[in-house]
Formats: sequence, structure tokens, C-alpha cells
Amino acid sequence: MKRDDIALAAEGASAPAVGRSHVHESARAQVAGSAAYIDDLPELKGTLYAAPILSPVAHGTVNGLDASAALALPGVRGLVLAEDIPGDPILAAFAHDEAIFASDVVQHVGQVVGLVVADSVMLARRAARAVQLDITPLPAILTVQQALQAQSWVLPPVHVRRGDAAAALQQAPRRLQGRFEVGGQEHFYLEGQIAYALPLEQGQWWIHSGTQHPGEVQHWVAHALGISSHAVRVECRRMGGGFGGKETQAGHLAVWAALAARKFGCPVKLRLDRDDDFVVTGKRHPFAYEYDVGFDATGRIEGLQLMMAVNCGHSADLSGAVADRAVFHCDNAYFLEHVQIDSYRCKTHLQSHTAFRGFGGPQGVLAIEVILGDIARHLGLDALDVRLRNLYGTEDRNVTHYQMQVEDNILHELLPKLEQTSGYRQRQKAIFEWNRASPVLKRGLALTPVKFGISFTATLFNQAGALVNVFTDGSVQVNHGGTEMGQGLHTKVAQIVADELGVPLSRVLVTASDTSKVPNASATAASSGTDLNGRAAQYAARTIRDNLAAFVAGLDRCGAGAVRFQGGQVMSPTATRRWEDVVKEAYANRIQLWSDGFYRTPKIHYDKTTLTGRPFFYFAYGAACTEVAIDTHTGESRVLAVDILHDVGRSINPAIDIGQIEGGFVQGMGWLTTEELVWDERGRLATHAPSTYKIPATGDVPEHLRVALWHEANREDNVGGSKAVGEPPFMLAISVYEALRNAVAAARADGADGDAADGARVELRAPATAESVLRALGRLG
Ligand code: MTE
Ligand code: HPA
Ligand code: MOS
Repeated sequence: MKRDDIALAAEGASAPAVGRSHVHESARAQVAGSAAYIDDLPELKGTLYAAPILSPVAHGTVNGLDASAALALPGVRGLVLAEDIPGDPILAAFAHDEAIFASDVVQHVGQVVGLVVADSVMLARRAARAVQLDITPLPAILTVQQALQAQSWVLPPVHVRRGDAAAALQQAPRRLQGRFEVGGQEHFYLEGQIAYALPLEQGQWWIHSGTQHPGEVQHWVAHALGISSHAVRVECRRMGGGFGGKETQAGHLAVWAALAARKFGCPVKLRLDRDDDFVVTGKRHPFAYEYDVGFDATGRIEGLQLMMAVNCGHSADLSGAVADRAVFHCDNAYFLEHVQIDSYRCKTHLQSHTAFRGFGGPQGVLAIEVILGDIARHLGLDALDVRLRNLYGTEDRNVTHYQMQVEDNILHELLPKLEQTSGYRQRQKAIFEWNRASPVLKRGLALTPVKFGISFTATLFNQAGALVNVFTDGSVQVNHGGTEMGQGLHTKVAQIVADELGVPLSRVLVTASDTSKVPNASATAASSGTDLNGRAAQYAARTIRDNLAAFVAGLDRCGAGAVRFQGGQVMSPTATRRWEDVVKEAYANRIQLWSDGFYRTPKIHYDKTTLTGRPFFYFAYGAACTEVAIDTHTGESRVLAVDILHDVGRSINPAIDIGQIEGGFVQGMGWLTTEELVWDERGRLATHAPSTYKIPATGDVPEHLRVALWHEANREDNVGGSKAVGEPPFMLAISVYEALRNAVAAARADGADGDAADGARVELRAPATAESVLRALGRLG
């Protein structure tokens, strides 16, 4: 990795903070081990520990439970079961379809039936395993194929149509059909799921939760306890990674811990052991696809029918929005004139699958990229040419299948730029020659784009609040509705506030997310953390600045607009004062030194019934050119070189943005190559630990991983001219998968002309593990 282009900015400099690579606000503390996670907080006297009792059966009726062996262990305090819930026994999730504790029926292996509470974590876990459940098994649906057959849904199917796909398919000169699947993905946040519930006086609660959505945790806990939201305060300083896995799943733990704390009248901590975390919590949704595509001799698509079967697990959770986002992204960057999309939200007896970086977007983008790869190999054309030919236009062919006009398309410049800087054409030729001379090892190259819609598709979530306090010494505290999970949100918000007040970054401190400071905040998700909270904080700071400007204007007899704030100084046409002095004087004159701020994303609207509108404020773009090699004897593969050109608008913090791009890419690579979730025939997750579930390690990061940022500001009026960066780069990794399929095709052609000479599509199950590659080569049963 080359990052000499990023000079880390010196702190306290008088230059603007935005646009410079300031270090992450927690970096030093994290490296030194002093950054506090919930399990590091000093525990209150009397704290007890909970561990979950898990269903060993995928689907069944619960007849009873024998906890005598568990309760006999010294130090075990007791159980918490559904009957101990004072409020609604169903979780306050929007679909209202999930029991807090399974009582009559269990719906997946690992579903939580109750808790054991004990004097130590290890004891609670040991005791939970000693609880005997009496369950009569029922038939279980474990695959989307079974669910489709049984019409087993968590939510009704969704059908989106534009034009006449069937007629276009009939008339198209060429036609291809295919089916494929992509697996799910475990979040593997380094900090496992955790909650620490503290009862306060008079029926009030303080919950430390490792959550991306403190406001929802507050609502869920209040609902389960049967109390008002105002009596529940939820706090989160930081998470050791969330990746979507703590958007809803953290709420379950908080509710469980709170119920235990209520029953025993003391603080309760619940931290899942890693194996339990795998087995209890939902993952990225696995998808199965079927397509029928018609195209011309140049590879331009004329009609497409696409079926996506989404494996949602046992409850709705966020599956509706995830499946919707897949529908919104199965065009990726391409104009689909005649299209029919059928999206099935399958109910299976598995963990309830949930948000994961990209939120269905990756599964949608993968579909069209696989189809275009198939078309190119079928026609013997270069896949980049086929992709370019299908791009959304700038003047025409620029309306999506959900009727949103693509106004900010930069791919017509971005793709040729990357094509050139990556040496795509020359390398394609060189690889062709190289493969001819290499019977065992085969290389593949692919260049794929990303276009990702930014905004929550549920319009109401696109709002945010912030609170900025200036103290009399001139130091600044910021609080906002977003959460920090490593992505650098707090750093970016601090930079924005520092510039708004014209103070050095070191004067600004962002404090823990807290429902009692900023209420009703949306989840930190959909990559919109900085867009929403950065703007809200900017507005809060602006109000304070305006107060101070009016005050100084009064002193110097000038217009407030003539007062500038920069480099820790406040300048009017006649005087320059230190920021600290202005603050002190303003306080003495009873000027308000704190303010809230509120932001709502403009322009967006979406009609759920017609599935049309403008769900996204703008799109984030990018592309990656990836070279891989496979060993046709063992099926092993390696990512050799990656060149990325990605659009973050005007970067607020280039080091953080490049880190997000690298991290997103590598995480996407894991999804499509090594991270395989295997459920056995009884619905048990066989891969529930790092011994069998392989996330990319440092050694898997390609030696050549070069990231360049697109130079242009966001064309929409977004904070600082920036664009969201958290999720879009994840989908750049689809270039790895397409490069692998090209390598497989080269092996199958074996010295012929570099493409699949047998004409059959390359059926490479994702993740492309060694077994998967061997199977695609026809070398495994
Ligand atoms: N980066 C780190 N280091 N850790 C994370 O958990 N989550 C990703 C992304 N980048 C994540 C991350 C996901 S799923 C999202 S939606 C965004 O960050 C959320 O933060 P943002 O909106 O502030 O970008
Ligand atoms: N993205 C991420 N999380 C979400 C969304 C979304 O579009 N909608 C609801 N939660
Ligand atoms: Mo990210 S999947 O929107 O938390």
C-alpha cells in the first residue's frame, strides 16, 4: 500500500481542518489501549452477568425447560424468561414479528429462549449450557429454494417493471439465461455484541449499548419494560466495529440485559461469547438469482428479467429495506430499458439476517455485473467495452427503473481514466499471452464500476440533530445523533465544527452518543453519518457563531457579516481578537454560547406503493481494476493487484476516506472469496468461529492496492462538498469476483482464445473458495 500522498496534518494548525488528513480522534487511545469499550467500563458494585440459553433446534414447539442442574451451581442467581417481561413480549421492531425470548416455538438454532444470570461471566455461560430444553421438532425451511416452494415469506414479494421485458427478450438478437447464488457474511466486528444495563432511581435506566442506533435501543428497552422512553437513557462512546451488525442486533442484547437487571434489581452485563455471537445474530442476506437477458451483438442489454430470492431468516428485521436496496441497485451503473424484477423476501429457519455494509446494494450490483460478465464472455467481447456500452447516459438513457433521473453521472470520465491509469488494455493483452504459456496458473483481470445511492430509502430517517456547547474557556464540545464504530465520523464532525467556529481542531471534543442529549436520532447507517450529523453540527455551530458575530459587530459598529472567524481569531474590519477573549466577553454580556442544530436531506421523496421517486439525494461512484491468479490444481486464488479510483466528492479527511475505501474493498473481497457460512442439514451453523470462518487477514491484502480519489466536489449541496464513503467501496470488490471468473474461463479455454470456448457460463459460486473454483473448473464433483 502506498500512502505517501497523505501527509498527516499537524494538530492545532491555523489552516482549515476540513480537507486535511487529521488522525482519527481515538487513534492514539486505541493504539495505547486506553480507549474505553463497554467491557472496559468500571463495573458497579453488585453487577451480575447474563448468558443466553440457546435453542438447539431449527424449528419446533417448546414443551418445557429443566434448569435444575444450572440452578444448582453455586453463584447462579436464576433465569430470565418470557414470563419475566413486564411490557410487550414481542420486540418493538417495526414488523412486530420477533419474540424477545422464544417461548412457544423456536425458529432457528441459536434463538435465545432466556438467560441465566450469575456472579461471573464464565459461570453464567456454563450454567446456560446446562439448561435442558424439551422441544418437539417441526419441519424446517433452511434454503430459499424450499422457501420459494412453500411461499414462505417474512414480507410480501415486490415486483418492479419498466417497459416490456418479455417482448424485448423475444425480439433481442441474442439471449442468455442463468442462475447463481451468493453467500451471506458474518460481520466479525472485533468487539462482540454487548450491553450493560444499570437501574437508576425511581424506575429510570441507563444502558450502555454497543449500538449503531441508540434511539431505537431506548425505544425497545422502554417498550419491553413497559415504561416511557424518557426514563431510559442509552449511551455509546464507540464500537469496535459495527458494519451494520449493530444496527438492530445490539438492541436485542440491551433488552435482554435490561430485563435481567429489572428482575434481579442490580446492574447486569451481557457480552456474547464469539461462538454465540455467530449463532445468535443475523448476517448479510444470502441471495439466489435467476435471470433471462436479451442483448444485441455488441452486448447492449435490450431486456432483462431478474429474480432475486433473499434469505431473510426467521423474522423481517431490516430485510424489507435490504431487499429494496438490492432492487434499487440491480442496475448498478447501467440503463435497463425493459426490465422486470421480482424480489422474494424468503422466510427460513435461520438467524434473522440484517444490515451489512451496502445493505443489499452489493447483492443487487453483483447481479448485473455477473450478467454483463456472462454476456461479454458469451460474445467473446472485452467486458469493459460491454460495460461502457450499457452505462447510463448523461443526456438520454438516464432514468432508473424506479424513475429517478441520474443527474450526477461521472462514470463516463471516471472509467476511461482508470482504464488508462491501471493499464487495463495492455494488461489484458499481457495476461492473454501469459495464460497461453501457463498451463496450471491462470490470471484474470476485470474493471467494474460502482454507483451507490446515498440516503436512507425510508425518507423519514434522513434527519439529524446536534448539540454544540462552547465553554467559557473557549473549548468546544459537540454531541450529535451519530455513533462512532471506527469509521471516523466523530473526527469529521469535529473538523466541520472547528472550521465553522474558526478554531483549531484541538479545541473541539466530540462526546459519547447519548439519547438524553440528541433525541430520536436515526441509525448511523446508509453511509450517511457525516452527511446528516456533520450538517446538523455545522448548523448548531453556525448559530453560536452568528451570536458571537452579532456581539462583536455591536462592539465594533460593523455588520455581523463582516466578522470573520479563522485560525482561533475573530476579525472585524477594525479589530482582531482571540477566540477565547471573545467567548469570555460574550459570556459576560449574557450571549448564548451553545445551540442545537437540525438537518433534513432536501429533494428526496419516494412512494412505496408505486416504487418510484427520488430515494437518493445523490450517487457515489467509483471503479476498481483487479488482477487475480488461480491455481487450477488446488483452486487457490490470490488477488495480485488492485487499482481504485473512487469518488468521495471533496474529501473532508483524505486519510480516513482512503482507509474506508481500502477497508471496504478488503471486506468485500472477503465476502466474495473466503468467508463461507455453512449451515448443516439440521440448520446448525457449522462455521461459527475464526477456525472455520475465514475473514481476510493482513497477508491477504493485495501487495499492490492503490487508491486514488476523484477530484470533483459533490454536485449536490452536501456538507463541505463531500460524499458519503462508508459503504460504496465495498462493491468495488466485485471486480475480484469477475476477475476470478475470467481466470476460470481462461483455464477452461486452455490455450484457445482466452474465453470460455465451450460457450457455457462460468458458474462460480460466491464465495469463490478453493472448492468453489475447482467446481467451476469442473474438477470437483
Ligand atoms: N468502518 C469501520 N471502521 N467500522 C465500521 O463498523 N461500518 C460501515 C462503514 N464503515 C463501519 C465502517 C457501515 S455498514 C456504514 S453504514 C458506515 O460506515 C456508517 O458510518 P458513516 O455513515 O459515518 O459512514
Ligand atoms: N441503509 C441502511 N440502514 C437502513 C436503511 C438503509 O437504506 N434503511 C433502514 N435502515
Ligand atoms: Mo451500514 S449496513 O448501513 O450499517
